[in-house]
Amino acid sequence: MGHDHAAAPVAPDASFRAFRRLNDPDLAAHAASRGRVDRRALVAVQGDRLEDKLLRALVERRALPAKEVWESFEVAARARSAMKRTTVVDLCCGHGLAGLLLAAFERTIESLWLVDERRPGNHERVMAAVAEVAPWTAAKVRWLEAPLKRALPLLPTGAGILAVHACGVRSDRAVDAAIAGGGPLVVVPCCYEGTAQSAPAALRESLGVVDAADIDRTYRLERAGFSVRWSSLPRAVTPMNRVILASPQAREEIEDVG
Ligand SMILES: C[S@@+](CC[C@H](N)C(=O)[O-])C[C@H]1O[C@@H](n2cnc3c(N)ncnc32)[C@H](O)[C@@H]1O
Repeated sequence: MGHDHAAAPVAPDASFRAFRRLNDPDLAAHAASRGRVDRRALVAVQGDRLEDKLLRALVERRALPAKEVWESFEVAARARSAMKRTTVVDLCCGHGLAGLLLAAFERTIESLWLVDERRPGNHERVMAAVAEVAPWTAAKVRWLEAPLKRALPLLPTGAGILAVHACGVRSDRAVDAAIAGGGPLVVVPCCYEGTAQSAPAALRESLGVVDAADIDRTYRLERAGFSVRWSSLPRAVTPMNRVILASPQAREEIEDVG
């Protein structure tokens, strides 16, 4: 879903990884389509991979806007190796497709918490599409329909935290959750209003709030023992295309020794 401002993209462009055909310039306009996903999306299908089957099922149900579908697959492609945990939490999940794709792809994930203050009406359609192709996914899902303030203290220790377009300071709450729980974090920050409050004024003034906020988040995570990388999503799917990946490996090694 995500809030698409007409703003300039925040991070460098990236290729489509899940559906490489979308890198064809002739399909670029389709990749950015705001309409419901429909049969036109099937040009991206490459064969009979799990990704292809899931896309077909989502198309059949016209379950979501096309951009949300492409973006969820691209986030999952970047988050997969970081999220090989037994529990993953999709914070501010909306329809929850990014988390559901991880749960469909990764056998290590036994439990997926979908957390949002509001469960969207057509979540059931998305769930049905995923369950048809990857029936093992449904049993992993646990919904927590609650505002973050109430949800965060309930999250299990060590879970992987995913937050895609958790607006403004909600991305900071995802950082808090990873630091508190000690599991990996994949966050795609969104509209930056109200963020970067703790960043040095010099950074806010010279780099702007967007970069200052993400640099500040990165230092917070590194100080807490995480090792952080930045990646990005194809600009066609969102201008809010920075992906922050934080791995607790360094921290876990320190805890092992200590
Ligand atoms: C921009 S949408 C992103 C949804 C989804 N992750 C995606 O990328 O498609 C932000 C989501 O955050 C949820 N949200 C906003 N404030 C919240 C809060 N305080 N606690 C929990 N969820 C919240 C909204 O209901 C909405 O589903």
